[in-house]
Amino acid sequence: MDRRMRVIPALICFMFTLSPVLAFIPGIDGPVIAQEALEGGKTTLFCDSATDSPNDELMLLVWYKDNAPIYSYDARIASEWSSLSFNTSSRLKADLKNEPTALIVTNLRGDDQALYHCRVDFLLAPTRNIGVNLTVIVLPSQPFFLDEFGNKVERKIGPYHEGDTLVLSCLVIGGRPPPRISWYSGKDLVDASDGASDIPGVRENELYLPLTRHNAESLSCKASNTHLIPPVRASLQVELFLPAYNVTINCVRGLVEDALRAGKKAIVQCIAYGSYPPPEITWWLDHRHLTQHSNQSWDNVTRKAESYLEFTPAVNEHGATLACIATNTVMAPGRDSKADVIILNVTYSPIVELSKLGDGRLNEVVELDSLHLECEVKANPPVLSFTWYFNDVEIRPNRWWGNQVSSQTLLVEEVTRRHAGRYSCAARNNIGETRAESINITVFYPPECQDHGVTLVKETLKCNVKALPPPDTFFWHIQPADEDVQHLTTGSAILPLTQITGSLSRTLDTSCEAGNGIASQEKPCKKIFSFEQLRPPQPQQCDLAFEYEEFQMRCIPVENATYYEVSVWRMSTSNASLVLDRRGSMGYGMSQALAQGEGVPWLVRGPLGNLNVGDEAGASACNRYGCSSALLLRPTENLLHAAANPWWKFLLEKDVGISVGAVVLVAVFVLSTVLAIRLARRARSKPTPVIQVLQLDDVARDYLETIGDHKIHASRSLRSCSSGYSDGSAESAPTVDRRRKPRLWDWEPLPPDVTLTIHRESAV
Ligand SMILES: *[C@@H]1O[C@H](CO)[C@@H](O)[C@H](O)[C@H]1NC(C)=O
Ligand SMILES: *[C@@H]1O[C@H](CO)[C@@H](O)[C@H](O)[C@H]1NC(C)=O
Ligand SMILES: *[C@@H]1O[C@H](CO)[C@@H](O)[C@H](O)[C@H]1NC(C)=O
Ligand SMILES: *[C@@H]1O[C@H](CO)[C@@H](O)[C@H](O)[C@H]1NC(C)=O
Ligand SMILES: *[C@@H]1O[C@H](CO)[C@@H](O)[C@H](O)[C@H]1NC(C)=O
Ligand SMILES: *[C@@H]1O[C@H](CO)[C@@H](O)[C@H](O)[C@H]1NC(C)=O
Ligand SMILES: *[C@@H]1O[C@H](CO)[C@@H](O)[C@H](O)[C@H]1NC(C)=O
Ligand SMILES: *[C@@H]1O[C@H](CO)[C@@H](O)[C@H](O)[C@H]1NC(C)=O
Ligand SMILES: *[C@@H]1O[C@H](CO)[C@@H](O)[C@H](O)[C@H]1NC(C)=O
Repeated sequence: MDRRMRVIPALICFMFTLSPVLAFIPGIDGPVIAQEALEGGKTTLFCDSATDSPNDELMLLVWYKDNAPIYSYDARIASEWSSLSFNTSSRLKADLKNEPTALIVTNLRGDDQALYHCRVDFLLAPTRNIGVNLTVIVLPSQPFFLDEFGNKVERKIGPYHEGDTLVLSCLVIGGRPPPRISWYSGKDLVDASDGASDIPGVRENELYLPLTRHNAESLSCKASNTHLIPPVRASLQVELFLPAYNVTINCVRGLVEDALRAGKKAIVQCIAYGSYPPPEITWWLDHRHLTQHSNQSWDNVTRKAESYLEFTPAVNEHGATLACIATNTVMAPGRDSKADVIILNVTYSPIVELSKLGDGRLNEVVELDSLHLECEVKANPPVLSFTWYFNDVEIRPNRWWGNQVSSQTLLVEEVTRRHAGRYSCAARNNIGETRAESINITVFYPPECQDHGVTLVKETLKCNVKALPPPDTFFWHIQPADEDVQHLTTGSAILPLTQITGSLSRTLDTSCEAGNGIASQEKPCKKIFSFEQLRPPQPQQCDLAFEYEEFQMRCIPVENATYYEVSVWRMSTSNASLVLDRRGSMGYGMSQALAQGEGVPWLVRGPLGNLNVGDEAGASACNRYGCSSALLLRPTENLLHAAANPWWKFLLEKDVGISVGAVVLVAVFVLSTVLAIRLARRARSKPTPVIQVLQLDDVARDYLETIGDHKIHASRSLRSCSSGYSDGSAESAPTVDRRRKPRLWDWEPLPPDVTLTIHRESAV
């Protein structure tokens, strides 16, 4: 068996080697392996030449290309052979040492594509056939691009706007088997519809692509006809105008607890992604364009634009919108921009203002009304607590202010005058405390009397009241003694006595009430006045004269007198006191008109009628407040004598002849004298009065005291004083009257009670 087994294959082998080869039928004669290789590359054809049993042995190995032998190896004689069509030394190489044995073909050419098979003859086993269907791949050319007009496009195309349709062909030349051409955007296949072009040997894929931000980013064309190597590929940049798609504002500095602080510098950043070409970033705060931002930066790879804004938020910018707008200037308005908007949260210490609620003016309140103050506040974050101040002292809860002193409002139910003053409130939040500007609260109250109510200043009554606001109307109720009440209204606190009718020489009952528009005065101010002090002073410079056949009282006028009174006093027959005999008024002297205006003293004079020994004449100055005490004068004996015995009267009583003789004598004498005087100088035509001069201060006072006390001895002393009267001579009278001005301030004031006594008598 062994021997036969060894002989038969040897025979077959021998016969095969010599006999013509039979065609290899794939599948029937043996398995076929499909194998690809690149043109110019190498490929290894494998053939399983191993024996099935250890006894067997390889006899012959032959490789065929399309049934034509190209290589053989005879193991019996260990000889190799290769076909001339293969350059054995360079392209065919066999490796018989390893199993499976290999035939390596290098430097592959297109015509190397064929059906190869190997035939292995064994000593014992039957012949084995294994086929290899070799495909030699011819790569296509690098892809290139043609636009819709047939122009070649390199590297870059555009610009386009988003949504435009890109029409572009990708072409390759050659390639076996025919390559597939595909368009890719990034890794995504966008078009695989390739086909043969009009040009022979060229294939193409025409792309119709509506452009978007994403598909235009990295567009490429790939051509492939083998999986042995990656596809050939060409890419193209599509320039596409795009607005920014993502704009964000971030605060990078100046945040305190996630909020901005008023007055504290903050830096915010705006980032805009995706715009091409670079956008223009603008900042807006509540529609106000801000320009204080940094230069904008731009990264052309990530398409990221950045801008920084530095600003200091203000209180009124709380709640404002801060917008960052990225605008692509090459694009049509409307689709060109993208914005981010943030609402500012600006925190600040409270802003406080104090106001008064309720009727009336801001800082006025009427006594007993309520006072309602409100602390108007604006704050972020909200106010935590309020504090109130009165005259800069913190108000604490007590009886006076109540308990509600730390709320937003301060309520005083019934205002008193003590509540008038400066009020302020303070509000505190997390950021700080602020105090409002204080307001002065004035408490109005109705008038009330003060400082003795009604007072008299010179010739004016004054109603002294205290009130807020100051009174604007005064109601007077005036009643002179024994007369009707007079109702007067004045706009100021004073009432001149001139406005009062009737006599003021006695008492005056006054009452005044003021009105200030708040409330009526509860109790009028009342007072009873008498006006002695307003009477004129006693005449001081007076004399007695006998003129025009009667006694005359002549005085230098005193200040403030409106009229003068003369009086004649006679010694009582029953007791030793002076009794008023008659009273009359004194008029101004003849020289009044002449004297007035020239500063020359002038005289008032009053007729006294006849005066006897012991009589006294009085002169007092008067006005509407009554008369002064009288200055009393007593005629001197000289004066009385001159008045009683005129020399010509005596002559009339004697014998007529003697009288006539005497008259003639005297007449001649007088005429000659008169002529002589007239020749010498201009003579006076007026008869020279007989005058006595007296100043009687002390005397008068003593006397008047006596009157008041009804004492007789006083009048006696008066009479003794009267004896000291100066001698009334024509020369001495004018010297006193005309040379000296009256010494008005030289006398002592009379005691009031005395004056009153006289006054009462004179008033009859
Ligand atoms: C075989 O190769 C040799 C040297 O490489 C070369 O000279 C010869 O021309 C080749 N023959 C064929 C048929 O290619
Ligand atoms: C060998 O491969 C080619 C394509 O490369 C094919 O057309 C042919 O049918 C194959 N032959 C066999 C026997 O498989
Ligand atoms: C915008 O960009 C930011 C940061 O890159 C990102 O967190 C956010 O989601 C983006 N928004 C949109 C709408 O793309
Ligand atoms: C603003 O910020 C403050 C402090 O962080 C915070 O208490 C408050 O709630 C914020 N206001 C708004 C409207 O966000
Ligand atoms: C902005 O740019 C201008 C000129 O381009 C330069 O002078 C200036 O310093 C820049 N400012 C900042 C804040 O970078
Ligand atoms: C970005 O700018 C740099 C320098 O300006 C330039 O070299 C580069 O080509 C640009 N890149 C793109 C994608 O435009
Ligand atoms: C409030 O009164 C004080 C003095 O009492 C005065 O200095 C201040 O100016 C007043 N303020 C106002 C607003 O009237
Ligand atoms: C005259 O009246 C005025 C005004 O009342 C007063 O000031 C003056 O003192 C009076 N003169 C005399 C001498 O009483
Ligand atoms: C003195 O007499 C008069 C009448 O002559 C009389 O009016 C007066 O009251 C008397 N005085 C005294 C103190 O008696």
